[in-house]
Amino acid sequence: MSYATVFKDETKLDINYTPSKLQHRNFQLKLLNQYFRHAIETPGKMTQRVIITGKVGTGKTVLTQLFGREITREAQRRNINLRYIHLNCRQNKGSFFLTLQQIVTQFHPTFPKRGYSAEELLQALIQILDTQNVHLIVTLDELESLIQNEGSEPLYKLSRIEETRPKTPRRLSLICILRELDWLNKLDASTRSTLQSNIIQLDAYTKTQLKDILNDRITLAFKPGTTPVETIEFAAELGTEEGGNARYAIELIWRAGKYADTEGDKEVSPEHVRRAVETVYAGIRRDEIAALDLHKKLFLLGISRRFQLTKGAYLSMGEAEEAYTIVCEEFDKKPRGHTQLWKYAKELSNLGIIKAEPSTSGQRGKTTLIGLPHITATNLETELNKILQHAKRG
Ligand SMILES: Nc1ncnc2c1ncn2[C@@H]1O[C@H](COP(=O)(O)OP(=O)(O)OP(=O)(O)O)[C@@H](O)[C@H]1O
Ligand SMILES: [Mg+2]
Repeated sequence: MSYATVFKDETKLDINYTPSKLQHRNFQLKLLNQYFRHAIETPGKMTQRVIITGKVGTGKTVLTQLFGREITREAQRRNINLRYIHLNCRQNKGSFFLTLQQIVTQFHPTFPKRGYSAEELLQALIQILDTQNVHLIVTLDELESLIQNEGSEPLYKLSRIEETRPKTPRRLSLICILRELDWLNKLDASTRSTLQSNIIQLDAYTKTQLKDILNDRITLAFKPGTTPVETIEFAAELGTEEGGNARYAIELIWRAGKYADTEGDKEVSPEHVRRAVETVYAGIRRDEIAALDLHKKLFLLGISRRFQLTKGAYLSMGEAEEAYTIVCEEFDKKPRGHTQLWKYAKELSNLGIIKAEPSTSGQRGKTTLIGLPHITATNLETELNKILQHAKRG
């Protein structure tokens, strides 16, 4: 007997897969094309800045990637040297320098990795664009990290660079992706106002929309007849409850398919979806946790363990710190200081992995309280143990 599976092509469910067409985002895709029309009609005359915003899993990344693919194809047809580069600021640790470096090395793979400041890299980039006569659209995905790490300056510099050279063709356009527009308040007023003019809002998907998205993906990834309507309905409904999150719905159906396979079932049932709910976390992305610095992981591990020992909904910063110190001993790492941990708590909270809030006065004195709103402590620990396995040996 050959190995039985409900899947036809699992790679179509991977988070890095970009579908060739999107459901229910045509309007936004058109809008984006509209904003960048000049880039292929009158290249060099002007540049553009657009903000894409929407909650987790509403298609921000996939929309811009698809747009980038289409517009470069169109530019090619018209013999315009247009490049689209999609960068994830979080993966670049919120560093402007690393972000710029990543752009520059796309044009110059051998560009020296040292000896330049961010400022100089930006100048070098513009020079490269001039010399090669390239028009560039850069998407800064998960821009929160960059703003959090470096404040206004990177965006200020990126959006001003053209103004310092008035007589040359315009070359650098920006698409900024943010989950929450609040982040713009952290920018200086003038940078904010240059960015703010074109905002594309992606609303949470409705259940019907999620069903359409799921159906498309299921056709690509599952064998025919393996996913009954009730199962799709159910996954779509759960996705709606999690804020219209398409990633969650897709991950659920994928995991449910895995459970069907392990149980040797020919169909994916709502019960398989229910089982998937226990191990798929809506608000948290595995790759996000995996990308954290070692000490942030250790801090999270401490938090996840301490939560399993307490009945409360929150930990005090002191408790979290204690737990972290114990974990550091176990991993034979020198613990980071209090101020650093406080920063970690804030950053992890901004990523949505934990919740860090000042306590209401009187409760436990004035401290930061740490909550875990999106994942169970045991699941977080399991996840971290998997990721950290090699750190212990190393
Ligand atoms: N309209 C759509 N049609 C088909 N697939 C979609 C659609 N919207 C989202 N998806 C899929 O859902 C998943 C999540 O989308 P995406 O990664 O673009 O969300 P996001 O808004 O960038 O989320 P985050 O804020 O977490 O980065 C991806 O697998 C994507 O391919
Ligand atoms: Mg995204």
